[in-house]
Amino acid sequence: MSGELFELELLGGATEQRFRRMRPEVEAMPWGTLDLSRVTEEQRIAARKAWTGSAYQEHRTGAACALTLQALIEARAPLDLIAVASRFPLDEMVHVELCARMAMEFGGGTEIIHDPKAMVVGCDASLDPLMQVADLVVRFFCVGEAISIPLLRATWHVAKHPLPKAVLGRIVKDEAAHGVFGFTFLDWACSRLSDEEKARLGVSADLAIRFLFDQWLDLHARRDEPRPEDDVLGWMQTGAYLDLANRSMQTLVIDPLEARGIPISAQLSEFRLPDAAAE
Ligand SMILES: [Fe+2]
Ligand SMILES: [Fe+2]
Repeated sequence: MSGELFELELLGGATEQRFRRMRPEVEAMPWGTLDLSRVTEEQRIAARKAWTGSAYQEHRTGAACALTLQALIEARAPLDLIAVASRFPLDEMVHVELCARMAMEFGGGTEIIHDPKAMVVGCDASLDPLMQVADLVVRFFCVGEAISIPLLRATWHVAKHPLPKAVLGRIVKDEAAHGVFGFTFLDWACSRLSDEEKARLGVSADLAIRFLFDQWLDLHARRDEPRPEDDVLGWMQTGAYLDLANRSMQTLVIDPLEARGIPISAQLSEFRLPDAAAE
């Protein structure tokens, strides 16, 4: 597999100080307080992998937010709407750092090889600026960010140790604004879009939703793998997670999209996880 190692650094000095002043809550978190004495080597490696994977997902989301920001500007979206979205890439960089530091708490990051030029699916260059940004917002915000809110909030809720609780709490707070943004954008854009264009957005949303369903099916298939019980790792049980994911996809993604005239493919109602609801 060709690609580059996912590695990060801080420049330090005045730049880091400026960054710290922008988000002082990061340094205020109780770093170095995890008691790993009862965590097995296997659990530690699983935690390093999970937090490194989360850091990479946040990094990708940062690219998605930056791409959307440029498209909002090109579409001459309302200035205040653009201004609100301009904070999102910074939020995601903070989330990258938080997750990467959590991996460090467990002994360091694990190896992720990625293609930096193919982290997110960009927009179709043949579309006009409004449709380009609408396509990005629907996929990245109305689906991706909106679904992450209940899942992160539930994960935050079960975390008991102050460190993962603080990390997840910060991410939940920021993501709440990201999740709302997609539908605020659509409420502005919808009157400017034809039924045909909305149908096309529905196809994009379907792709993004199916991508998530595939990930959940994969998670479902691995649900019986041994999970650490120690809450120091701050994870939800897989069955509960998938059940919540399934329900939230309907109420927080599909229903609000359809309420705005964006049709979601009927097959999705058949795309149920085998027995997530029963767990
Ligand atoms: Fe994030
Ligand atoms: Fe986000």
